Amino acid sequence: MSEEKVILTVKDLHIEFHDHGQTETAVEDVDLVLRRGEIVGIVGESGSGKSMSALAIAGLLRRRAMMTRSGEILFEGNNLLTCDRATLRGVQGKKIAMIFQEPMTSLNPVMRIGKQVGEILKIHYPEISKEERKKQVLKTMSQVGLRDCETLYRMYPHELSGGMRQRIMIAAAMIGNPQILIADEPTTALDITTQAKIVKLLSKINEVRHTAILFISHDLSLVSQLCHRVIVMQKGRIVEEGSATEIFEHPKDAYTKELIAAIPKVDLSESA
Ligand SMILES: Nc1ncnc2c1ncn2[C@@H]1O[C@H](COP(=O)(O)OP(=O)(O)OP(=O)(O)O)[C@@H](O)[C@H]1O
Ligand SMILES: [Mg+2]
Repeated sequence: MSEEKVILTVKDLHIEFHDHGQTETAVEDVDLVLRRGEIVGIVGESGSGKSMSALAIAGLLRRRAMMTRSGEILFEGNNLLTCDRATLRGVQGKKIAMIFQEPMTSLNPVMRIGKQVGEILKIHYPEISKEERKKQVLKTMSQVGLRDCETLYRMYPHELSGGMRQRIMIAAAMIGNPQILIADEPTTALDITTQAKIVKLLSKINEVRHTAILFISHDLSLVSQLCHRVIVMQKGRIVEEGSATEIFEHPKDAYTKELIAAIPKVDLSESA
């Protein structure tokens, strides 16, 4: 795995929020690389900077008056923090796609499922005909484990279960065949059985398409099942990084040890 090509490099990422003369540091000194085909987990307590780092990497951290960002996110020769909007638009959703915790907030409630899954193709590949786009949408929906896709195609998000909605989000993210898929707590809103199925699906996508996946989760048990490499964050900084085996079997940092000690025993026995 370590010989695989580096496709994204984060150097010295800092994100700060400023409010009434106060500065809150959300992300500090973050350096990381993502290689083709690897699954990297980011774990850490609430507020440790996981989502902010992920949004920055996905090119989705909008410029705001009260926020400053510095450092580099290098992807295909561009720094996603400073590149022009056209370059960024060519990356967002197409080459680096992101899925979130609650698909209901990311899906458009008044747009049919099929149309939403095909959105990226419509934006980035306008030369593809409507019929061909529908064909690709149905194929991708079936690849993420959905059945009776013709019927689902015409349905609205509220008509589906949480697990199905997350599969729809994954289909919408995967249809453009991104090099990187960022999943921020993609299973948190789901029951345990559905969580396991979604993790299995991400693993399959990684195997079949060699998509690099950045998997953010509070659930260390899921991270240990899915990820090749793990990054541990605390208070905006990376405190430890290593292969999943290193992190879970020989954690060095005191905070990592604490996190691992807190994994419910029942989960550990299930993943063994
Ligand atoms: N709009 C904002 N204004 C001020 N501070 C913010 C803002 N958004 C995020 N932060 C700060 O950035 C830090 C990192 O937030 P982030 O959302 O990345 O945490 P996280 O690790 O994803 O947490 P969780 O596990 O709860 O999702 C937090 O300390 C938070 O207070
Ligand atoms: Mg978060």
